[in-house]
Amino acid sequence: MKTTQASSGNALGSKRDMIYISQFNQLALRDAAVSEVKIFDTTLRDGEQTPGIALSLRDKVRIAEALDEMGVHVIEAGFPTISEGEQQAVRSIAELKLDSRICGLARSTRKDIDAAMSCGVDYIHTFIATSDIHLKYKLKMSREEVKSRAIEAIEYARSHGLTVEFSCEDATRTDLDFLKEMHIAAQDAGAQTINVPDTVGVISPAAMEYLVSELVKVTKVPISVHCHNDFGLAVANSLAAVRAGARQVHVCVNGLGERSGNAALEEVAMGLFAYHGIEAVDLSQIGQVCRTVSRLTGYPLPNNKPIVGKNAFAHESGIHVHGVLGNASTYEAFVPELVGMHRQIVLGKHSGAHSVRDKLDQLKIDVPESLLPVLVNRVKELAETGKEVDDAELMALADHIMARGDRQDIVKLKEFAVFTGKGITPTATVTVEMEDGSSNTRSMTGIGPVDAAINAIRGAVNESIILDEYRLSAITGGSDSLCEVTVVIKDSSNGGKASVGKGIGSDIVQTSVEATMNAINRNYHRIKEDRN
Ligand code: KIV
Ligand code: ZN
Repeated sequence: MKTTQASSGNALGSKRDMIYISQFNQLALRDAAVSEVKIFDTTLRDGEQTPGIALSLRDKVRIAEALDEMGVHVIEAGFPTISEGEQQAVRSIAELKLDSRICGLARSTRKDIDAAMSCGVDYIHTFIATSDIHLKYKLKMSREEVKSRAIEAIEYARSHGLTVEFSCEDATRTDLDFLKEMHIAAQDAGAQTINVPDTVGVISPAAMEYLVSELVKVTKVPISVHCHNDFGLAVANSLAAVRAGARQVHVCVNGLGERSGNAALEEVAMGLFAYHGIEAVDLSQIGQVCRTVSRLTGYPLPNNKPIVGKNAFAHESGIHVHGVLGNASTYEAFVPELVGMHRQIVLGKHSGAHSVRDKLDQLKIDVPESLLPVLVNRVKELAETGKEVDDAELMALADHIMARGDRQDIVKLKEFAVFTGKGITPTATVTVEMEDGSSNTRSMTGIGPVDAAINAIRGAVNESIILDEYRLSAITGGSDSLCEVTVVIKDSSNGGKASVGKGIGSDIVQTSVEATMNAINRNYHRIKEDRN
């Protein structure tokens, strides 16, 4: 195991400097001194029970290796009794001889325990339901029957030298006196850890704190918790349990698991670190492990997923970017590198000059201060249409604006509309304002909307202009990439000289119009220069 309860000196000290949480945590948690909490990962068992997920043996092995590498204490590798394939996967993981303990799930029956043992695991997690709801509608057993079934299973597993963790399934809806009776019976039978599942995700943090503090009174072995997220409280409930004395937490990477999932490994690990100073796993591996699991399971990470979502360290608004660039603590709870992530300055409709300047500096593009507002406006205009401007596109926009420099347009486009559709001849109407302030409006058709638009511009500005060349390219390969249009025009009234114009934008027709207007203005500037 590479990193575990890292209360050790400097490394942790410097990591503590990477986190900027509220001082009220310390005040509120001063009586909850916790020194060690184990991470029991069930991504390969409860996580695989997520609807739509089915991992191959190879993928399971890769996930187990990644979890081991990050320092997870126990890996629940599967539920061997369910199939031969499941047994093969658990066996393959057990054979890796990882530092993490490898565990198999088993109901409280000899058959299930034998199936787990046949995979070579030395740790089992055995369970039986204890709530009256489950006893009545599922097991159709009495409390006494359930208790003796649990005792028999624990003793059987212990007699085979296995480490045993026992769970009262649906513990959070079980009668408290009976739950305590079960804990006492389980530990007397030899269970080394007793887990408290919130099977249906129905408890609240305050109630979990109460429940665990009651169970601690009768339970001599470490208490673990297994929280489901049906009310979105799995992580909060797990941390509440730790405050009350739980010393192990069941988690799934990315919060996978039955229905709304289980407590997310990455969130629990960061909660333990932030609020109790415990580095239960190597935090710097979190980003990588979460991405790997997302890829292998085919379950995308929501953009706003805490800790590892695309937006977890993305800043767009000018105020936030300005703050973060001055000092990350202004708008970040912790430094992204702490969890193997990176900060991202996103250029969008809330971006200001600071964000654009910072991005340009990163890309080593030197845009003069006088042109920065033009560039910022272009970025915002594009963002208004829902477009996020990436690095390649920003470079192209900056190039484009710098090539144009401070030059003012001689002919200005005032209005533009294009009408097209199936079975309709594309027709464009443009209104331009000429140098003397007069307005010209023309409507023209074309073989496509771009052709119609360029014809209308020619008609409104100058019929002696012809389109000599037209090139269209996407700046990046993406389907929402900005496009770049280059046009070459020739003006027979100016000796047939060629002028080049470029446009960059998200709409091909509008960008073609921009490129054409650019070329026309270049032509007119050239004519003026020639005259002087
Ligand atoms: O949610 C649950 O109760 C479980 C048990 C197997 C512990 O996953
Ligand atoms: Zn579960």
